[in-house]
Amino acid sequence: MKRAIMVADETRTLLEGLDAEDWVSTQEAVEVAGDWLRHRRIDSQLTEEIAGRFLRLAAHPKWEVRKSVAHALLFLRHELFHAAIAKIIEDENTWVRETARKTLQRRTELTRADIHSDDHGDQILGLLTDLEMRHGMRARKAALRIADHLHSLFVRLAYHEIVRIISPLDASLMNLERELDEVPGVPSRSISHLKRAKGRVKLLSEILDGLRDFTTEMTGEFTPENLLPVIKEAEELALSNIEHPTAGLVVHHDVDTSLRIEANRSRLLQAIINIIVNAVEACQGLDQKARINIAAQRQSDSHVAISISDNGCGMSEEALRDCIQLYTTGKRDGMGFGLPLAKKIIEIDHQGTLSIESAEGEGTIVIIVLPFEQVRAED
Ligand SMILES: Nc1ncnc2c1ncn2[C@@H]1O[C@H](COP(=O)(O)OP(=O)(O)O)[C@@H](O)[C@H]1O
Ligand SMILES: [Mg+2]
Repeated sequence: MKRAIMVADETRTLLEGLDAEDWVSTQEAVEVAGDWLRHRRIDSQLTEEIAGRFLRLAAHPKWEVRKSVAHALLFLRHELFHAAIAKIIEDENTWVRETARKTLQRRTELTRADIHSDDHGDQILGLLTDLEMRHGMRARKAALRIADHLHSLFVRLAYHEIVRIISPLDASLMNLERELDEVPGVPSRSISHLKRAKGRVKLLSEILDGLRDFTTEMTGEFTPENLLPVIKEAEELALSNIEHPTAGLVVHHDVDTSLRIEANRSRLLQAIINIIVNAVEACQGLDQKARINIAAQRQSDSHVAISISDNGCGMSEEALRDCIQLYTTGKRDGMGFGLPLAKKIIEIDHQGTLSIESAEGEGTIVIIVLPFEQVRAED
């Protein structure tokens, strides 16, 4: 019951905002509605209400409001989308026009999965929203922590089972290779079969190692750390990890030397290394001068923001949305563990946030926000 009342209250406030006299409130409400459309499961009636208002606001006298509408329309799953976008696609204001065009373009790029996300994902999202409504943000976070823990536990059990089989298999293949070496006249076809089998076992072992790293839970304490040396070490390790970094790659720092944070040093290093490795890899084969910028500055009294940007290949809208998912890779020999692990280290271990902005052909920026001090979890 309480939940229903809360939802009704929030919904009323949102709709009142969309109908507000002063345009600033209207614009704010449009942005909130856009967020809801993207992240919440909202019923068809509310979608209808929002769609009708968006259509009306697409002709609002203030261009700022129209621009927000152009942006917020992206995830509107209603037939009025077309009527609303048609109103502003030729808007007199350039910003509005540009935003509307972008929305239209992104809309066509969105996969079906995004517009009608699959039932399973929807269900989980619904459960989490429900939990948050009833018991607050902390409950949502706790549920995510538990889910993550169970996932890790399952993967670790599977890991040990598979390793038990893979290790002797690897050894057997090595023995076989040695023995065949001494036998005269072995057909080259057999040798190449053996080589391929060894390659597969190696790949499997690498995947297993990635899985193990991903599911290893943080051990050790948080310690006070100067940020600059951590970043420098991450950069050094990242570059030494890469066989052929682009010639002429410049890594530029802009890190305030006085910044100190509480962190689990080795985990934080791992996260930053993964991000820098991706940046270096994104710059591979670049015509122009490859450049990576690492900056860190105080964001507020309680948080620091670290950004790692590159002018590499960048990502399409769709790649950007997927890159944070486990096993998602855009590389021929990628594993898709780097970003998910970095996100987990930053968000679950360190209570921070990791966000990514990217433009295809232009570059990528990864922004990490971390608290200066770690609050010990009491539950
Ligand atoms: N800085 C970046 N520039 C362009 N693409 C990136 C960048 N960082 C990550 N990506 C994309 O995200 C994907 C997932 O990255 P990651 O999880 O580290 O896995 P992997 O590097 O093994 O592919 C990459 O394959 C790449 O397509
Ligand atoms: Mg990577």
